[in-house]
Parts: sequence; structure tokens; C-alpha cells
Amino acid sequence: MTSATAIAHPNIALIKYWGKADETLSLPATGSLSMTLDVFPTRTTVTVDDTARDTLQLNGRAATEGELARVTKFLDLVRELAGDTRPAAVVSENTVPTGAGLASSASGFAALATAAAATYGLDLDTRDLSRLARRGSGSASRSIPGGVAIWHAGDDAASFSETVAAPPLAMVIATVDAGEKPISSREAMRRTIATSPFFPAWIPSTAASLELMVAACAAGDVTRIGELTESNALRMHAVIQGSEPPIRYLTAASTRVFDAVAGMRAHGLEAYATADAGPNVVVLTRPEDAAAVAATLTAEAGIAEPVIALPGPGAYLVDG
Ligand code: DP6
Repeated sequence: MTSATAIAHPNIALIKYWGKADETLSLPATGSLSMTLDVFPTRTTVTVDDTARDTLQLNGRAATEGELARVTKFLDLVRELAGDTRPAAVVSENTVPTGAGLASSASGFAALATAAAATYGLDLDTRDLSRLARRGSGSASRSIPGGVAIWHAGDDAASFSETVAAPPLAMVIATVDAGEKPISSREAMRRTIATSPFFPAWIPSTAASLELMVAACAAGDVTRIGELTESNALRMHAVIQGSEPPIRYLTAASTRVFDAVAGMRAHGLEAYATADAGPNVVVLTRPEDAAAVAATLTAEAGIAEPVIALPGPGAYLVDG
């Protein structure tokens, strides 16, 4: 029996990935940049035993056929690279609220890639592991390195993630709705590309924002990092809302959080809002201001239990 266990954390993009240039290789239309969080870890064990077929257990329950099919497709890739055809038993404990737009697929596939590579005997460095994780879910690539990570656009060899230098940052997660999102990001990306008249503008706009963001990170300019973060998130939602039929992830409760964040800035508290493919809002701020931001979110936007996150580690192997 061969087995390996890995832990990975979710990441929240400051410059978003929205749209693929190549679906098969999971190559993004543009580069993106995120902060890996130190909360909501996923722990995944991959065991090659004498099971007849792949099995998947998620948070103590048997996975659906759809969930299993996505994992088998990913394991097939690992098996092809390893020259090994044996099925695996996968057990994953995911503490991210599933489907709530907090990128559970990022920590999930980062942990799976790390554990599966070790189990099947692939010796991959961070760059190649991030390329592998990308094939499971694009944003998973950015959960392989720790801290603030850039995921490069490019061909299969060039589209990897790596840590970039950045000033101290914190995020405050405002969960407004922990339920399933109405449409998966994968499906919504397809519809955006096929139907949103704004998509052609999104690509150069995001590429330009990414360059400015990398420069702001290098300069340690938290204000500029925050401004670019909020602007890029709103642009992503504008592009998505331009799809036909329209897709709208932000709700009235999300908007209340954006308003509360603007109110904080008006009172001199540096805070900037972002949101992924769901209604929840994540607020970027300085670590020393995170508690004040969380308290204001509760007081002004009715957020019951805001979660404060600092930059988290990259994916790593642990003893089973
Ligand atoms: C809105 O990585 O979940 O969170 O590659 O199809 O698995 P697939 O998509 P996924 O999309 C994440 C989209 C996003 C923005 C981001 O994380 O950059």
C-alpha cells in the first residue's frame, strides 16, 4: 500500500482569473494574482491499494458520480505521467464552505495534486506541481506556492504559479450566504466567453491591472493594491453580468458589504472589497486594521462572524 496526505489552503484573487484560453490544458485567458489564506485547510489522502476503481470520500460521505469523474480525470493525468495504471482511494476533508464562492476547488485540487504526485512517485518542484494542479482547477495552481502568488498566462510550460514579494496583508471574509452558487464558475466562464460583449475588453484590462498590481506589491503600496483589487473584482462582475442569459452572483447583501467598505474608507480605515463567483465578499486590509474591519462589518453590514485570514502556507505533505 502506498499513501500520501497533503494539506492546502484556499486563495482569494486580487486580480481575477475569469476565462480559459484552452479548456483541455486549463490555460487562462490572462494571468492572475492571489493571496493564499491561513484558514479553511483541505486535507487529502491518496492511497493506491488493491481497489478495483477510484473511490472518493468527501467530508465523510461518498462523492457523487460527477465529483468522482472529475477526480478520476485528474488522477488519469497523474497516472499517465507516472506510467502507473492502478486506481486510488481518495479521502478529502474540506473545511471551506462548499459552493459559496470561496474557492473550495482551489484548496481541493492543490491538496489532491500534492498527495497524488507523492503517492504515484512523481518528483515535482513547486512550478511543476502548480502546473499539474492547474489541470484540476485553474485557481488551484495558485494554492501550491504560499503567500501572494502570481499565476502566469501562457502555454502549458509557461502557465505556472509562484510566490511574489508583497507587503503584510490581511483578508476579512464576510459570508453573506453559505449556500450553493446558482451556476458553477466553470460553466459561467464558458457562457461569458461565448456571449458577453465585454469579454474582449476584459482580457487587456486584466493584463494591464496585473502589471500594475505586481508593481504595487513590489513597492509595498497597500493603498494601490487595494484599489486595483476592488476595481478588478467589479470589472469581473460587470463582464459576467453582461452574459446572455445574464449571470449575477452579487446580491443585495453583497452590495451592503461593498457599501460598508466604502464607508470605512470614508472614515480613514483602509479596506477594499472583492468577491468571487458567489455572493460572499472578502475585504482586503492591513493586518493591524483587520479586527477593526471585522467589527465594522458586523456593526454596519450585519455580518455575524467575519473570519480574519493572514497569508497562508503553500501546499505541503504531512504524515498520514
Ligand atoms: C472567480 O478555478 O474554480 O474564483 O478552472 O474552471 O476550475 P476552473 O475555475 P475556478 O475559477 C475561479 C474563478 C474565480 C476567480 C479566481 O479565483 O481568480
